[in-house]
Amino acid sequence: MLLRIPLFNKLSTPPGSVPNIHQNTVPGKPANNVYLIIVSDYSGCMNPEVKAGQSLYSKPFLAVYNRAALGFYCRFVWRCRARNILELYNLHVSGNHLDIGVGTGFFLQRCRFPNPEPRLALMDLNPNSLEVAGRRLARYKPEIYKRNALEPIGFDGPGFDTVAVTNLLHCLPGTMETKGIVFEHIKPLVNPEGKVFGSTILYHGIRHNPVADLTLEILNRLGFMSNKQDSFEVLKRHLERNFAESHIWTCGYEALFWARV
Ligand SMILES: C[S@@+](CC[C@H](N)C(=O)[O-])C[C@H]1O[C@@H](n2cnc3c(N)ncnc32)[C@H](O)[C@@H]1O
Repeated sequence: MLLRIPLFNKLSTPPGSVPNIHQNTVPGKPANNVYLIIVSDYSGCMNPEVKAGQSLYSKPFLAVYNRAALGFYCRFVWRCRARNILELYNLHVSGNHLDIGVGTGFFLQRCRFPNPEPRLALMDLNPNSLEVAGRRLARYKPEIYKRNALEPIGFDGPGFDTVAVTNLLHCLPGTMETKGIVFEHIKPLVNPEGKVFGSTILYHGIRHNPVADLTLEILNRLGFMSNKQDSFEVLKRHLERNFAESHIWTCGYEALFWARV
């Protein structure tokens, strides 16, 4: 059964179930009148650690996210200014782009798409992130999908030329060894010669400053981040294993990367 609901109404799903939100805008309606079509509900139980990894992204947190997380924390704590990540977008984003783990859509709002009317798809597990980013990017009439990047991504639409996973991996539970599965889930969605790019905050093998150390300790304990086992080397290995060409480097405590299928 297809249900059509205004995007920004609360999703009425039974406790424990996750709607698979599939679609996007209604042709002929104003861009900010975005609708979701729930194609199916799946009642698989979401692992509590996966739930914790996205639970920080409440509406109040998203309201301060750009300034706090991408302004203050990126610059002073993780020592990699947001503009370095924006540069990654400007170099690689295509006019047929999927963003997984969208947050507020900060980079998508600011990056230079190669054409004025890109096909843009937003994918996230958290409906608040989808709503906030969906609203801010309404001018692109984004397709909106609620998905867990740790599960095979059910998707039968046309493929994408680029997929970004910016600051997603450090939110996912597990070790960098196990999180690599995300690249296997993404690959079927990428067109031949397409690119995957992103960033993630590293922990293992890095000497952080005391503020970063304390912040990471707290966020890991609360389950908002799970990056204590995340190392540059293992991420590099996943990229090499999954893609024909890959590049990875550090910016402060972040790893930045891009790869071609
Ligand atoms: C740190 S924010 C990154 C936002 C944005 N990409 C940026 O760099 O500013 C992480 C995002 O990933 C989403 N997320 C967390 N776990 C997820 C999962 N298992 N599957 C899909 N999205 C997830 C969160 O809801 C949040 O929107």
